[in-house]
Amino acid sequence: MSAEVLKNQIRQQAQGATRLHVAYIGITGKLFATLQRMSQATSSMLAAASHNDPGYVRVWCDAAYAFEYLEADGETFRLSEVGLLMCPDHPETLMPMVIQAMVSAHVADRAAELLPSGERPGEAVLGERATLLPWFGPMLEHGFGTLFEQTICPALSVFTEVDTQGGLALDLGCGNGWYLRALARRCKHLRGIGLDGFEENIRQARTKALAEGLENRLQFQQGDIHDFDQQEAVDLIAMNRALHHVWERDQKGIFQWLHDHLKPGGHAVIWEPAWPEQRETLRLPARRGLAFQNLSEYIQGNHLLRPQEIVEAFHAQGMTTQVHEFMEGNEVLVVARRPHGPTP
Ligand SMILES: C[S@@+](CC[C@H](N)C(=O)[O-])C[C@H]1O[C@@H](n2cnc3c(N)ncnc32)[C@H](O)[C@@H]1O
Repeated sequence: MSAEVLKNQIRQQAQGATRLHVAYIGITGKLFATLQRMSQATSSMLAAASHNDPGYVRVWCDAAYAFEYLEADGETFRLSEVGLLMCPDHPETLMPMVIQAMVSAHVADRAAELLPSGERPGEAVLGERATLLPWFGPMLEHGFGTLFEQTICPALSVFTEVDTQGGLALDLGCGNGWYLRALARRCKHLRGIGLDGFEENIRQARTKALAEGLENRLQFQQGDIHDFDQQEAVDLIAMNRALHHVWERDQKGIFQWLHDHLKPGGHAVIWEPAWPEQRETLRLPARRGLAFQNLSEYIQGNHLLRPQEIVEAFHAQGMTTQVHEFMEGNEVLVVARRPHGPTP
């Protein structure tokens, strides 16, 4: 490929990143959602309705017009087709990609800053941007909810089994609680407890459970997985993209905890992005994001896990495992069962 072609390619990609940044302002500032409700508006009408500053909204409208999120008729704007897809409530919303792009920008800047010292500030890095923090939950919910409900749930019999028993499910590192809510909508007898370290996630989880009429079966609490005191033995412990957050600090202790808090015959269901065995596969377009995520995890004191590491850790507890791959092996669910009887 010639240098000129390469330069053009990078220029276009840089413009693509800027395009997502313009969308980020429109999503987090509720500009897309408000304009959708209004159908059309001048920038000052949009500013008033979205409770934003008219000067900022005026220049945003020009930028959003330039990047084809808005159509204009004189001074009146309306959403374009792609602008509509930026509305967070749209069933096909592109919001997760936009939020992810901004998380990456934040993480890249922090990595550059921390590179000389080697400091790894931990989970707190994700809470550093007040505008970004409330969007983690919706990003993950929209990014993975459909895969869970339409593909993973029907493929795994463990959820029906727990439902039939009217069982208790525990979600460690539950985020905004989307997984337990999806399970409770599907499994009418299941009860659930969700635990997460971020107060904002727990606030969203409680609000959404209440709005869906699930508050009697689901409870959410803020706390640290490492200190969590669960009295009642549970039928299912889920950890979605959360195991790698606690692995480096106390891998053995966590697996012991999972084993000890499950009823005999109970299951741990671990969902993780699968770190590949071979570095070459990171070049696959669908895996590139994983390589950057691992950098983000490093700052937080974590690393992404190979499915085999998870399997071995369960076997060390005397538990049996089944591995289920989804999304061409990029997403893996390890279902581990605590056997009846004493641990060998
Ligand atoms: C990548 S997010 C996944 C959230 C959620 N399970 C989902 O799938 O959307 C990881 C979550 O684990 C939580 N977490 C990480 N370490 C934790 C700890 N030690 N105690 C409690 N929560 C923790 C974080 O707050 C974050 O919400």
